[in-house]
Amino acid sequence: MSQAENPSPFTLANEAAQAIGSITGVEKHDIALTLGSGWGKAADLLGEVIADIPASEIPGFESSGVPGHSGTLRSIALPGGKHALVIGARTHFYENKGVRAVVHSVRTAAAAGAKTMVLTNGAGGIKDSWKPGTPVLLSDHINLTASSPLEGATFVDLTDLYSPRLRGVAKDIDPSLDEGVYVQFRGPHYETPAEVQMAKSFGGHIVGMSTALEAIAAREAGMEILGLSLITNLAAGISAHPLSHQEVIDAGKEAEPVISALLARIVHAL
Ligand code: HPA
Repeated sequence: MSQAENPSPFTLANEAAQAIGSITGVEKHDIALTLGSGWGKAADLLGEVIADIPASEIPGFESSGVPGHSGTLRSIALPGGKHALVIGARTHFYENKGVRAVVHSVRTAAAAGAKTMVLTNGAGGIKDSWKPGTPVLLSDHINLTASSPLEGATFVDLTDLYSPRLRGVAKDIDPSLDEGVYVQFRGPHYETPAEVQMAKSFGGHIVGMSTALEAIAAREAGMEILGLSLITNLAAGISAHPLSHQEVIDAGKEAEPVISALLARIVHAL
């Protein structure tokens, strides 16, 4: 079946949200978080776990094929009385499942009532002052996937896509947080040093393989977006040595306790 013949992605997202509502008994989730490499422990620090649902039990989700992604959706009661939906099952554009699959989690979060979308990832740093393990706020993005989650003549403004208000909240918690422009490449190969230099010359500071498409879908859904990258490595050619996925996983594991605690404090302040 071609993408055009499938049921509307919004219908599928509504079905997913209904399934989450009936499994959790939570009528409305206020905040949604997608936890990328290195951020997973935040799910344990946010509040009282109401339900941990294997992604495969929710319409439109599959368990993640990527090590470092948990493959569950977790409903959490936050201390202030709000509810968070933590998505540990991200579909990447490079998996070739189509852009609808990539943004299904975001559309599900919106259908579940979330007005705030926190998108996190592990990424390569172009600024050489960022050591592996540094968390960075996204200030904007450059989408190099040559794709969009928007279908038809859906003209959506992307000015201030990454909410200045939410970035302010994060900086109140940790004034040392730096900001940068995220450049989404298709992957799954890492960038060449020449591509990293291109991204730098375009105004990019961070290179990765997720988030930008999800942020566009979140904006379409009217959500306020906070983006955070964990710099797991210096981008290709910025560092003297070649990249490895193991290095990315290891840097994520090492930074996880600190950045997860930071993220939990930020979420509690939203
Ligand atoms: N490039 C793209 N994606 C990544 C990187 C990188 O250097 N590190 C972790 N994810």
